[in-house]
Amino acid sequence: MRGPAGVTSSRALKHVHSLADMRARARRILPRPVFDFADGGAEDEVTLAANERDFDRHVFLPKPLRGSPQRDLSVKLFDGRLAMPVAIGPTGLAGLFWKGGELAAGRAAAGAGVPYCLSHASVCRIEDLPAIGGAPRWMQVFVYHDRGFTEEFVRRAAASRYDALVLTVDNQMLGRRERDLRNGFTIPPTFGPSDILAMAAKLPWLMRMRGELPKITFANYVRDGQPGDLRSLSRQMVSLLDPSLSWADVEWLRRIWDGPFILKGILHPDEARRAADLGVDAVVVSNHGGRQLDGAISSIDALPGVAAAVEGRIPVLLDGGVRRGSHVVKALCLGATACLVGRPHLWGLSVAGEAGVTHVLRTLGAEIDRTMGLLGVTRIEDLGPHLLAKRA
Ligand SMILES: Cc1cc2nc3c(=O)[nH]c(=O)nc-3n(C[C@H](O)[C@H](O)[C@H](O)COP(=O)(O)O)c2cc1C
Repeated sequence: MRGPAGVTSSRALKHVHSLADMRARARRILPRPVFDFADGGAEDEVTLAANERDFDRHVFLPKPLRGSPQRDLSVKLFDGRLAMPVAIGPTGLAGLFWKGGELAAGRAAAGAGVPYCLSHASVCRIEDLPAIGGAPRWMQVFVYHDRGFTEEFVRRAAASRYDALVLTVDNQMLGRRERDLRNGFTIPPTFGPSDILAMAAKLPWLMRMRGELPKITFANYVRDGQPGDLRSLSRQMVSLLDPSLSWADVEWLRRIWDGPFILKGILHPDEARRAADLGVDAVVVSNHGGRQLDGAISSIDALPGVAAAVEGRIPVLLDGGVRRGSHVVKALCLGATACLVGRPHLWGLSVAGEAGVTHVLRTLGAEIDRTMGLLGVTRIEDLGPHLLAKRA
């Protein structure tokens, strides 16, 4: 990036060598309630911790004597190729971390040649994302009591030529994120005198967002003649979600959406098999980043069962705890086609907007490349379980 913004960004990104460094930087920048809103998980955060930790149960068995001067990280997904096996997953309120956060992240994804998935709860509107062009764009939706409301989201995504529809199935009731309760995190965020005292170090973020905070809302839910503020809409949104979601809804969405249709939040092999039977185009093995059902299996532990169940009929994607390129490579060895990242891109956004997300994606790409090189693998297709052992 050039110009004054580039100068700030490159300074902000100095010494950010890993996604963990980016998290530490974001933690310093963001007011605690905002950092914890992204960072936290449900209840005791057991699943949140397991998502990262369980990658370590798999260790590499390299074959370095098949060396090669360069690697090809590209993968086929649906009718296209991704530059690397990574996508940015849907996260609500990305615009809380950086002004125009969703658009900045979408641009970074386009620059890196990977998909960007817009959350139903984006600060920008479904219709705003196409303007950035480039990246495959995916739209994430929920099933509401009023199916017409879900259908409206689907029609808007189709009209804006989104490339894939993602139905998230693990959020029909809200998990209890106790960090938010302890921090008194409200939507929109409000800060009391004690927060403000503790926030001297957060001034740059506050200054950057000061004009923005009062405007932040769930833009996709704003309707003429109805209250459009974030507080009213967030209350309304929870009551819109229908916990009696069923396979009939999956069949219905399959019928009304022509392009690739992805189910996100699949952990059980039976559900993955049924999804493939019903014409779903891909599943995302996910526990919502440990934000919903605490005690749920980690994503990496659920992956082999799901991959075995679908028998290669549809691509299996994974998210949850991906913090290193080596995590992506392990997931691919165990049957995934690509991994989504949630929190890491929000850390990148918080630190340097588009440049920060680009840095996250480049870091992951370089790590995937290095891991493959050290494993003795040239092409993604050559990754497999033969390159892993299970730690005793
Ligand atoms: C702040 C935040 C907001 C999220 N909002 C959504 C959402 O609106 N829809 C959705 O399907 N998943 C949402 N997720 C879950 C992510 O898509 C993804 O499953 C999860 O973050 C992956 O784990 P990771 O953060 O460890 O990469 C959200 C996650 C975070 C951290």
